[in-house]
Amino acid sequence: MRVLVVGSGAREHAIVLALAQDPAVTALACAPGNAGTAAVAEQHGLDVRDPDTIAAGARAWKADLVVIGPEVPLVAGVADALRVAGIACFGPSAAAARIEGSKTFAKEVMAAAGVPTAASVTVDSPARLDAELARFTPPYVVKDDGLAAGKGVVVTDDLDAARAHAMRLLDAGHPVLLESFLDGPEVSLFCLVDGSTVAPLLPAQDFKRVGDGDTGPNTGGMGAYAPLPWAPPDLVDDVVERVVAPVAGELVRRGTPFSGLLYAGLALTSTGPQVVEFNCRFGDPETQVVLPLLRTPLAGVLHAVATGALADLPPLQWSDGAAVTVVVAAEGYPGTPRLGDLVIGADREGVLHAGTRRRDDGAVVSAGGRVLSVVGTGLDLAAARANVYHRLAGVRLPGSHHRTDIALRAAENRIAVPTAG
Ligand code: GLY
Repeated sequence: MRVLVVGSGAREHAIVLALAQDPAVTALACAPGNAGTAAVAEQHGLDVRDPDTIAAGARAWKADLVVIGPEVPLVAGVADALRVAGIACFGPSAAAARIEGSKTFAKEVMAAAGVPTAASVTVDSPARLDAELARFTPPYVVKDDGLAAGKGVVVTDDLDAARAHAMRLLDAGHPVLLESFLDGPEVSLFCLVDGSTVAPLLPAQDFKRVGDGDTGPNTGGMGAYAPLPWAPPDLVDDVVERVVAPVAGELVRRGTPFSGLLYAGLALTSTGPQVVEFNCRFGDPETQVVLPLLRTPLAGVLHAVATGALADLPPLQWSDGAAVTVVVAAEGYPGTPRLGDLVIGADREGVLHAGTRRRDDGAVVSAGGRVLSVVGTGLDLAAARANVYHRLAGVRLPGSHHRTDIALRAAENRIAVPTAG
């Protein structure tokens, strides 16, 4: 099977590495890829936001399967163009990708499907903002309705800061979603979805704040781990039954079935799991810890979803251990990152590239805010943490920063799910 992966982050590097281990894969390419994917896959410098360009590139390369990593090409209709061209594609249509592309649409689908989520209101004009904000209590949750690369959400106790974020979005012409705050540990559950068939992967947890102890501004993600030893044993079945299957069914009912990976971001509140967000693709950085634990060859799994055969796929097989990933970010991130710094150790085992570029002399330099991730595995979370921080000590990037507490509270059994009453 010839597989083309679309995207250029550590998520795509993780997908490419997993595909490279599948004996069914005879050729691998990545568009546009990064300095890490170049070591395992052909690189094609295509514009991932242009459906016709990707479809033409996939056809010219004779791809049997295209796997789309990021949300932007999905919302732009790249999967639709590939299907029109007769090429199997892992990723939803633009119509189904609206579950991530518009938070207001996702709320409508959840309301119709009876899925638990935070109360919300969409504001599209500054004239209504103060009156709508007054209906909420701190902490205020203010979200960009559309795609924002993980940076559209502000959660704050400060009404002025909430208002200022909303005004920035409205001034830029973006509708704003105001939400009540969901209290409780967060979980990311990835589900393969093919119409109304749902197959969950292992649950994971990511770390969105830049600093240890969940301090500082939100980022695109500073680390993740899987599985979740503290989670209730019936969590995955419960979320599939009460959240993912009803949403998949509602999209079928609307004539826009979802095919690909539906990511449910949840808060485990005292009244049960509630949806924080849906994404229409593999999450980053959680993919970096979920895929190393998957023993079933990945290409066959993704091809089954892409060809409407998920119901025929045998149950997925998983390793018993745990995985932890830690993101190494450039100085200045999540503000303006410093670029062009030399990365030492970028080609070591367990390193996934994100914002990297290989110079003509072969050296790897930083080319983005989240520069790379380091992944460690082990028999349990404590062992995986020891492994990842040992590996990280072999990576050097001037001015960089990373969190030192990824998976720490879980490894020390210090996460509790709130209970009612
Ligand atoms: N981990 C958050 C995301 O992938 O959007």
